[in-house]
Amino acid sequence: MIVITGATGNIGSKITSKLLNQGKKVRVIGRDAKRLQVYVDQGAEAFVGDLSDQQFLTRAFKGATVVFCMIPPNLTAKNVNDYQRTIGTSIVTAVKNAGVTHVVNLSSIGAHLTRNAGIVQGLHDQEERLNDIVNLNVVHLRPAFFMENLLSTIDMIKSQNMVGAPLDGAFRFPTVAIQDVANVACDYLTKATFTGHTVRNLLGQRDINYNEIVKVLGQAIGNKNLKYVQFPYEQAQTAMVNTGISDSVAAALTETMKTTNEGPFLAEAHRTPESSTPTSIEEWAKTFAKHYNL
Ligand SMILES: NC(=O)c1ccc[n+]([C@@H]2O[C@H](COP(=O)([O-])OP(=O)(O)OC[C@H]3O[C@@H](n4cnc5c(N)ncnc54)[C@H](OP(=O)(O)O)[C@@H]3O)[C@@H](O)[C@H]2O)c1
Repeated sequence: MIVITGATGNIGSKITSKLLNQGKKVRVIGRDAKRLQVYVDQGAEAFVGDLSDQQFLTRAFKGATVVFCMIPPNLTAKNVNDYQRTIGTSIVTAVKNAGVTHVVNLSSIGAHLTRNAGIVQGLHDQEERLNDIVNLNVVHLRPAFFMENLLSTIDMIKSQNMVGAPLDGAFRFPTVAIQDVANVACDYLTKATFTGHTVRNLLGQRDINYNEIVKVLGQAIGNKNLKYVQFPYEQAQTAMVNTGISDSVAAALTETMKTTNEGPFLAEAHRTPESSTPTSIEEWAKTFAKHYNL
């Protein structure tokens, strides 16, 4: 039995669909029975509840050969550190109480940092909590910036003909398609032969900067004049708060961007054949164009 947290989300939904297509026995966790029903219809077992509920989660993890764990984003968390600690501790308690032996943990690049990682600080702490569980075999997946984050720029492109973020436009960074992350997760989940504690970076096909990204996206949507504009940190943080993101989460996301621009965030994101994944930004831009033209 493979147990999936965040089963209705970006990564979890792709993992769940793939495992069900392969005929695997899958248990899906989420807060909304209706959103899980599509998987129940395909043979999955649903556990409806909140990841912060340790007793619920222990029941949901019982009998698992392997669990896919994540701390989901909560953009409105009043205190993001408290939120990540609460969910992280609950997952770790349930892993211990249910006697889980194998975990595939969705972490992030930058999770090697012990400070100033912003939104990723809680994922660093979660890797440590899981590593502290005696006899647990765990793989920490550390994906780069998801290409799918770029979908949130569609409104800005339509209204202002630009893409804006606090990253330096000439700064190359890794970016990965979520399907590639899900594919690697499925490999680990179906084999569950990994031992000890390991980290797997998932860095996409190549590093690319925002100036290059907007050219590729512009080409895909037939807009040669699309521009990238680097926002000052404060302006970006205020803009996030204006869209309903909490002060705490906006500050954490801004800190992550700052640490990325300054270098430390990517210090352990070494590109190797193992850390590279197949989907290029040019290939993914076809998905972008489909969403843009909806
Ligand atoms: N975005 C990036 O560039 C990036 C890069 C590297 C790593 N990451 C990491 O990837 C993770 C996010 O993955 P994702 O994009 O797949 O997430 P996502 O799309 O936001 O999905 C998370 C799912 O978790 C469920 N959920 C949320 N809160 C819950 C709760 N309290 N109890 C039970 N279920 C809950 C939600 O389903 P229901 O609403 O149906 O319950 C949601 O569909 C984060 O840890 C993030 O830090 C992101």
